[in-house]
Amino acid sequence: MNAVYEKLLKCYDSFEKKISFRPELALILGSGLGDYADTMDVKEVLDYRELDGFPVSTVLGHKGRFVFGYAGGVPIVAMQGRVHYYEGYPVQDVVLPTRLMKLMGAKTLFLTNAAGGINRTFNCGDFMMITDHISSFVPSPLIGANIDELGVRFPDMSEIYSKRLRNIIRNAATDERIPLREGVYVQTTGPNYESPAEIRMYSALGADAVGMSTAVEAMAARHAGMEICGISCISNLAAGISQNPLTHAEVQETADRVAPLFKRLVTRAITDISAANK
Ligand code: HPA
Repeated sequence: MNAVYEKLLKCYDSFEKKISFRPELALILGSGLGDYADTMDVKEVLDYRELDGFPVSTVLGHKGRFVFGYAGGVPIVAMQGRVHYYEGYPVQDVVLPTRLMKLMGAKTLFLTNAAGGINRTFNCGDFMMITDHISSFVPSPLIGANIDELGVRFPDMSEIYSKRLRNIIRNAATDERIPLREGVYVQTTGPNYESPAEIRMYSALGADAVGMSTAVEAMAARHAGMEICGISCISNLAAGISQNPLTHAEVQETADRVAPLFKRLVTRAITDISAANK
């Protein structure tokens, strides 16, 4: 059997033995949203370490566990601490958790992250709903033998971030009176931030925000037939747009500052998405 699929099934096996909760939506928590679980009605928790062969995140401030419970009344699994490509894992491992959440029963994937603002109209602390992404600077997570059980060899990517979900989220933000930008996310490998010349290039290519996650997860989820949406917290202005050197502390600080608003937006969006699916 395909080694990547075999590892996934092994993780699913440990999950199934330990957890009875079945989520309808999967939420990946980015910087600043790490404590989102505090707002959830938590039913069960599964440490990544309890899953055989599961990649364990090493970034400071990232916990490593799945939290199962209700957000806005909706059964969800939240990933507290994601796995990044720059940590040195093969990209197939980076997307293993996403695929696992699909096997757990989640039909929708809600991605969040902190990102640098490239679009010059963006301000620090803004939220940007992701309309599309540029993944050309990271390897595709679908490289290697195709996992036919999950999806087709050559999956369509013409609507990665569901237009239907985007409409729901836009309305949710309006109702909550939370300003919401929209734009294209470009994923880099990291861990270094970009040079100003790279940011000018990404801008010319049509990117509005830059970060070190999300696109590969979205591709794996799309391949597996999940419906996807995503929101970036613009935690800093990208290199060359910002007058100051970039630091992880700044990213964390901004993300933490706007976290209460971000949580409210995410919870409302989850409730509305679930209601629309009924
Ligand atoms: N660049 C890349 N990744 C990021 C940034 C950035 O400016 N901010 C938060 N994540």
